[in-house]
Amino acid sequence: MATTRPTHPAHDVRTAVFPAAGLGTRMLPATKASPKEMLNVVDKPVIQYGIEEAVASGIERVVLVTASGKSMMEDHFDYAPELERQLEAKGKTAERDEMRRIANLAQLVYVRQKEARGLGHAVLQARPVVGREPFCVFLPDDIMDGGDDPVTAQLLRVYAERRRPVIAVERVPRQDVPKYGILAVEEVGPRLFRIRDMVEKPGVEDAPSDLAIMGRYVLTPDVFDALERTAPGAGGEIQLTDGIKALLDDGVYAYEYTGRRYDCGSKQGYLQATVELALKRPDLRAEFRAFLGDLATRSGA
Ligand code: UTP
Repeated sequence: MATTRPTHPAHDVRTAVFPAAGLGTRMLPATKASPKEMLNVVDKPVIQYGIEEAVASGIERVVLVTASGKSMMEDHFDYAPELERQLEAKGKTAERDEMRRIANLAQLVYVRQKEARGLGHAVLQARPVVGREPFCVFLPDDIMDGGDDPVTAQLLRVYAERRRPVIAVERVPRQDVPKYGILAVEEVGPRLFRIRDMVEKPGVEDAPSDLAIMGRYVLTPDVFDALERTAPGAGGEIQLTDGIKALLDDGVYAYEYTGRRYDCGSKQGYLQATVELALKRPDLRAEFRAFLGDLATRSGA
């Protein structure tokens, strides 16, 4: 394992854990034989957006928690000598350089979760790699577009000041609270909250707020001890929120990030990501926008 110290000027967090061992049943049949993290959005797999956000936030090392049937991810982030040779021979040097850039994005470490025993259990599999350092957790289904200020960089600024775990949150419409982990909080700064309680998928009437946990976390290594002690809940799964709950007395923060989130683990979110992110691409925007305009006219929208 690398022993060098982190080099980012604003924080000392160098590792991000990407739990990517789930079954992806909401995206079937697309995910029957391919990992949902490898589903394509515009022209790259969902997980590449997350890894690029991590790198743009100063992360140097990515721990991918994978499972059987997910090895396609390892190939995507590796050198592809034959492809690179062919691109070179055809004079496609920009494409060849891009293939190299992807393979050199970060130091990648793979660990396996042998059974899908929940998000908390998946994070625990990264413990031998992470050790006693603070680390980020990325749920790769969520593409976070923070514009010039990556969402994880926003969380890491809070971490650098507070030195305690920080969770990304977003306000959701009241009727949607049953889909999320919802927080009871005390406001302690602009967009910043100290978490008092966490409720997984509450009823609309029982929800303590409209602040929902989204797929980015900065955690401290004491969460591993808490997860080791966490009893499995429904379906034998160990929940990450149960582990984090055990840390609340020592201070856990929520930050209402600025940016746009796309839930690519659901069909609606995936479609929205594809359209909106294509519209942000300078090389595709004009023609695609014209197509959407034409489509709206034809369908009478
Ligand atoms: P989800 O519940 O969204 O993932 O877990 P899932 O189980 O793959 O999806 P559906 O609901 O069946 O469609 C959130 C994240 O936690 C990972 C998933 O890969 C996803 O990134 N996860 C979940 C694991 O790595 N292991 C698990 O045991 C469970």
